Amino acid sequence: MHDIRLGIIGYGGMGRYHAKRAPDAGVKVLAAADILPERAAEAQAAGLTGYCSAGGLLADDRINTVILTVPNHLHKEMCVKAAEAGKHVITEKPAALSVSELDEMEAACRKAGVVLTAHQNRRWDRDMLTAKYALDSGIIGKIFTIESKLHSANGYMHEWHLYKKYGGGMMYDWGVHLIDQILFMMPRAKIEYIFADIKKVLHEEVDDYFKILMKMDNGITAHIELSTYILDYQPRWLVGGDKGTMIVKDFACGGAVYKTGKLLEKLPPQIAETEAGPTRQFAPVPPGGIITEALPEIQTDPNEFYRNLRGVINGQGELKVKIPEVRRVLSVMEAAVESSETGRAIAFEACGNINA
Ligand SMILES: NC(=O)c1ccc[n+]([C@@H]2O[C@H](COP(=O)([O-])OP(=O)(O)OC[C@H]3O[C@@H](n4cnc5c(N)ncnc54)[C@H](O)[C@@H]3O)[C@@H](O)[C@H]2O)c1
Repeated sequence: MHDIRLGIIGYGGMGRYHAKRAPDAGVKVLAAADILPERAAEAQAAGLTGYCSAGGLLADDRINTVILTVPNHLHKEMCVKAAEAGKHVITEKPAALSVSELDEMEAACRKAGVVLTAHQNRRWDRDMLTAKYALDSGIIGKIFTIESKLHSANGYMHEWHLYKKYGGGMMYDWGVHLIDQILFMMPRAKIEYIFADIKKVLHEEVDDYFKILMKMDNGITAHIELSTYILDYQPRWLVGGDKGTMIVKDFACGGAVYKTGKLLEKLPPQIAETEAGPTRQFAPVPPGGIITEALPEIQTDPNEFYRNLRGVINGQGELKVKIPEVRRVLSVMEAAVESSETGRAIAFEACGNINA
């Protein structure tokens, strides 16, 4: 069995992360390249071979796999060079800035006979897997809505994320994760329509807010919302079923499953008065009317990403993060941009959209 002998291209935040974490999954991290000499020196000081250019690292025969942890606009160019050098390629997300870029990357890897995958690590996030459990287990009945919300009070984004030419903006940053998670949660569902509103609230050049509605052919409408500037936090996940509701509050999986008892089989007699009128349907639920249960405890192991890749490099099994899935996410992002620009819902794959 061949090991993954990894070279890291881009020794910034994520480059350092992989250098530290990949060995836990049995990966041999050998080298890192960065155009900033101080970062190449930092890699050297951390016991890796530090290169001042990607070219130097790609010529290193010890390395059989590279991970691209450079800013987003460089992923395609670096991937093609790495494939030509005979290296398997892991690209950080977003794998590419467009479907057509990804197609070029895939063609280069296929031609070179190397594996291409993307680090969609948020498929191993416990909060998402907890929400997914509601779909898979039926504990809250038939699901009719999923809300995936990510709000930050931190306002401004940082460094290259602020600029379009580097592939900045929140759609390329977290949008790619949030869409991928929804599609991962419902692998058999096709998308009928996509509607999106993408905004620049605090930033001049790139998006920092988006709402995306994805109407699926399984009856569920997924609602994704991200903002860098909403100052009180809403739950990270809300899953609504016909026998209950699951709330996953945050990454740490606070929250609960809520179900109604016998009391609520009939509408309670209370009436809520507002200044402008009464409501019975939306009156408070009487005490004891809602039963609260603990969230299921879900295990997760992000090291599976590298273990899976090692198997595939050795001819065993199939990739956990497949390029057609990555391509589908990029197609959704392109449709979301089109929807936001035109103000229309975009008919997607279940409606025979050939671009989907
Ligand atoms: N999967 C995740 O959870 C996750 C989280 C954060 C970032 N990312 C992704 O990781 C990638 C890197 O993001 P980051 O936050 O680490 O950025 P960063 O700015 O911290 O690091 C990027 C590094 O690349 C170097 N670099 C730039 N051009 C280069 C070149 N031509 N050759 C070699 N090195 C070069 C920079 O000097 C810098 O050190 C991005 O694609 C980003 O979207 C993924």
